[in-house]
Amino acid sequence: MAKVKKAFFCRSCGFEAPKWLGKCPSCGEWNTFTEEIIAKESSSTPSVTLAGIMPAVKPLKIGDIHEENRKRIDLGNSEVNRVLGGGMVPGSLILLGGEPGIGKSTLSLQIALAANSLKTLYVSGEESAEQIKMRAARIGIGNEECLIYPETLLENIVRQITEQHPDVVIIDSIQTIFTEMIESAAGSVSQIRECAATLLKYAKTTGTSIIIIGHITKDGTIAGPKILEHIVDVVLQFEGDNNNIYRILRGIKNRFGATFEIGVFEMLDNGLRSVDNPSEILLTHYEEPLSGIAVGAAADGVRPYLIEVQALVGGAAYGTPQRTATGFDTRRMNMLLAVLEKRVGMKMFQKDVFLNFAGGFKVADPGLDLAVVAAVISSYYDRPILDGVCCAGEIGLSGEIRPAPRTEQRISEAARLGFKRIIVSGYLPKDIKKPKGIALITINSVDQLPKALFME
Ligand code: TYD
Ligand code: MG
Repeated sequence: MAKVKKAFFCRSCGFEAPKWLGKCPSCGEWNTFTEEIIAKESSSTPSVTLAGIMPAVKPLKIGDIHEENRKRIDLGNSEVNRVLGGGMVPGSLILLGGEPGIGKSTLSLQIALAANSLKTLYVSGEESAEQIKMRAARIGIGNEECLIYPETLLENIVRQITEQHPDVVIIDSIQTIFTEMIESAAGSVSQIRECAATLLKYAKTTGTSIIIIGHITKDGTIAGPKILEHIVDVVLQFEGDNNNIYRILRGIKNRFGATFEIGVFEMLDNGLRSVDNPSEILLTHYEEPLSGIAVGAAADGVRPYLIEVQALVGGAAYGTPQRTATGFDTRRMNMLLAVLEKRVGMKMFQKDVFLNFAGGFKVADPGLDLAVVAAVISSYYDRPILDGVCCAGEIGLSGEIRPAPRTEQRISEAARLGFKRIIVSGYLPKDIKKPKGIALITINSVDQLPKALFME
């Protein structure tokens, strides 16, 4: 009888245990353990092995190591290059995560097709070569050197990489590839971990850059990206609202650069287009002033942009008021509403509050607190905010207005888009630089905000 070796793995963090557990001792999640076969003792020898394919490495004297590898690769896509910190580092392993249908395959195929001077290999475990060709024809084929390879067996993929010597390899997706070294099914924790570790070793020893695509659901339940986060060099997250055309590429981890950069894209019929000027799409021009609308100067990353916030405050029909925020943290919104209740005396406890950011954007910038509160105040009093006013500031629990990071850039962006006034924290340095044509309105606490929003 063949001896089967099994173990239990946490689908959330990859923790391994000999028996089933209700709660993961590593990440604290409940009900995430699944049983997986790791090895069958008597199973036939794998048809292909990695020994012999994987290059061997030897220790080197530090003086003999050349730094030419530090040169970054231009991927032919300005937004992706910027999020990576100025191009891709050779030999890096990048994880591109996102919900199904968000556009990960489109973006990565577009990278493979646009990187003109590079040899790219696009490995797909999800689509046939014909399907990929159809998609490529829609996007536009710029790089004739792009190789398409529908395959799911890791050993074959590594063999092809060794034979073809591509500069960039894209694996779409890690959940569909498997290695014969492990018995469990593709997409299981042990498969994902083993495949990623092999690819990492390969990328580091040969200098080939590898982009791995990983599906992640809203609550992150599908095994994969979470487990891979510590293995890879760079984690990029592709996010957006499926019902909207705008997508954000966010750097979450980057061993070679900063992580606060974002790239903005628009999903069109012919693929994703970079949005160089996010402010222009995130602001709506209304015929007449409306209440409940405020404009915030955001700075997610080094590039500032202006974004519209909409709030609707209404009497709660039932005992418990409804609070919903789209694109903004609901807990943070509740905190801000509590501050309004306590410091401004607004009766928020009887009110339903709905909050929405333009373009289906998700924002995590505390500098937008002031804009959120401004929209709520405007809707509460049903009074439009003065034309040409925007806000940038963080709100503390005692209602104090704190300076938002990189306020100078936010002010310049607001001025560039023709705003006449910007409401900021009174605690900013007095000598802050500002362009002509925009006035700073400084407030120290949130109770001064209504006056700044409504009085000429
Ligand atoms: P896809 O890249 O397949 O998503 P993922 O790999 O993240 O699962 O893209 C999915 C959506 O993108 C699909 O619903 C159709 C849309 N799309 C366009 O709108 N325009 C295009 O040119 C392409 C290729 C896709
Ligand atoms: Mg896909």
